[in-house]
Amino acid sequence: NIAEVRQWIKQLRQQHSQAGGEATVGLVPTMGFLHDGHASLMRRAKQTSDIVVISIFVNPIQFGPNEDFERYPRDEQRDLALAEREGVDIVFMPAVEDMYPTPTKTHVTVAELTDTLCGASRPGHFDGVSTVVTKLFNIVKPDAAFFGAKDAQQVAVIKQMVIDLNMDIDIVACPIVREADGLALSSRNVYLSAEERSQALVLSRSLEMVKQRMMEQPALTAGDVRNMLRTEIGTSSIAIIDYAEIMTFPQLESLEDDVVLRELSSEVIVALAVKFGKTRLIDNTIFEPS
Ligand code: PAJ
Repeated sequence: NIAEVRQWIKQLRQQHSQAGGEATVGLVPTMGFLHDGHASLMRRAKQTSDIVVISIFVNPIQFGPNEDFERYPRDEQRDLALAEREGVDIVFMPAVEDMYPTPTKTHVTVAELTDTLCGASRPGHFDGVSTVVTKLFNIVKPDAAFFGAKDAQQVAVIKQMVIDLNMDIDIVACPIVREADGLALSSRNVYLSAEERSQALVLSRSLEMVKQRMMEQPALTAGDVRNMLRTEIGTSSIAIIDYAEIMTFPQLESLEDDVVLRELSSEVIVALAVKFGKTRLIDNTIFEPS
């Protein structure tokens, strides 16, 4: 629970500082059912922090009423074994009643950045994320927190929140970890049937195609990219596009169809959310077009 984790962190900090110097704490927030994408964040945290804390908490307030909160995959024993293998010092695994003993009346909202992409399709989702991440930051008081670029909009939102609210925490974004065939690792991949799993490869394939075309075609426009994504994802008979977008990153400003990408000075994100059967998958790539 919250009091225990605070006590443990205090104790470990003291032990480290007795050994000389101030100890740093790195936090990896997760919802569990851990895979190598999560492990990559723990490894990165271990490189730069003396004490590594991970949280495993399926956060009810970031799920919509018709989403998968109840059936979200869980496996505590396997998660604890993975954390131990990665040398994590503390696993914080609170119950819903610990985190939300009473209905929350205070929410953290990051405006504008949450109007598009997943924010548009999942109303309230990012309020749930920024609120729980604020609570985790206040409980753990980390020096640094580690997030995956798989959820690129989440990274943009958390970075903005930390700036706006003067949270003295270094937000570190880590690259997307993929299966050998390109599928981005996700706890939700277990929902996929064999057929859906194989069709889902269209996501990484279409992102690769955009990057390739970017190199070959100097006058490539945002509209060309949108068309290319729709055509390529359309080759899958079961894929249903939620969004297939190109925007500036991390500002998440939309680009008119006639914008020539090479002429942009900022980075861009090509971001996908596509349903295969009941399962909604996301993927993205971020690059400098100039
Ligand atoms: P979850 O989906 O469990 O992801 C935890 C962290 O792992 C996130 O930062 C996510 O971007 C990262 N991650 C997931 N798959 C990855 C992959 N294939 N490669 C690299 N990193 C990957 O994101 C959440 O939980 C929640 O919204 C949370 C931040 C914990 C708040 O509840």
